[in-house]
Amino acid sequence: MDLDHFVRSLPKAELHLHIEGTLEPEMMFELARRNGVALPWDSVAATRAAYAFSDLQSFLDLYYAGAAVLIHEQDFFELALAYFERAHADGVVHAELFFDPQTHTTRGVAFATVLDGLERACDEAQARWGISSRLILCFLRHLSEDEGLSTLAQALPHLARIHGVGLDSSEKGHPPSKFARLFARCRELGLHVVAHAGEEGPPAYIVEALDILGVERIDHGVRAAEDPALLERLAREQVALTVCPLSNVKLCVYPTLAQHTLGQLLDAGLKVTINSDDPAYFGGYVAQNYIDTAQALGLTRAQLKRIARNSLEASFVPEGLRAPWLERLDAMPA
Ligand code: ADE
Ligand code: ZN
Repeated sequence: MDLDHFVRSLPKAELHLHIEGTLEPEMMFELARRNGVALPWDSVAATRAAYAFSDLQSFLDLYYAGAAVLIHEQDFFELALAYFERAHADGVVHAELFFDPQTHTTRGVAFATVLDGLERACDEAQARWGISSRLILCFLRHLSEDEGLSTLAQALPHLARIHGVGLDSSEKGHPPSKFARLFARCRELGLHVVAHAGEEGPPAYIVEALDILGVERIDHGVRAAEDPALLERLAREQVALTVCPLSNVKLCVYPTLAQHTLGQLLDAGLKVTINSDDPAYFGGYVAQNYIDTAQALGLTRAQLKRIARNSLEASFVPEGLRAPWLERLDAMPA
């Protein structure tokens, strides 16, 4: 079996995926036309050509501009359904989708419009392809904690449809501790909690996310590689890291994939997973992330199976759902 087929056959969960980051330029232009929204680029090709980022912020500026075309429930539905179709082709059996309500509510789009469209796509994906999914509300860390608390208030009537919360956007200068009260409230509400930490920010942000926010997984976390004591802790506590290799190269966290620390994290015994982050902007969906990383770092098939297993184990699903996926995975050749 060639590598491409092997990777796509591995039952896997995608745990770090911003649904707004799956907006392909073709759909961006179609929605801009349909909704009468002006874009800063004049063609699909010019948009793709602008995807040359120097850091996280240079990407986020463009990503928020693109998200402005999403207005109606149907837009969010089509966006998420297109993602699920690609995820299915990549062997994803379960996806935990991040969404950024503040990116939309600040433009006058109702919270329920976003959630209704995404939820309808989740139901459709289950019916069409048997993919299970969960929705994780991410707070934008460049905004204030009070703004996060008012977003949580808007989410309260919908909590049955929201599985967890996360923290994303500009990391530097916005430490996890800025959101201590907000995350304490989310934990009291019984929500799962995760946070981006150690993507561009220092290893100390990973420690804060664990100790102050009480997160169950770390999104990215790759800068843990700089801190031996933290590596030892993450391995001991088996905290899952949702690593996004192509994203890290596109945003210049590492100069090339061959210099990525994923192999070092795996060797240190960390619960590493591979994910796509914002695949429409970073050059590949989840299977491409597995394949390119395996080729650049010389990962074995046993290691790729281990990574897929980690993703299923670290997902927020009941054991009854997880067990059949693990059985399928175990039956794969190594
Ligand atoms: N929002 C979307 N993608 C992100 C990333 N990689 N880091 C922080 N915030 C994000
Ligand atoms: Zn992310």
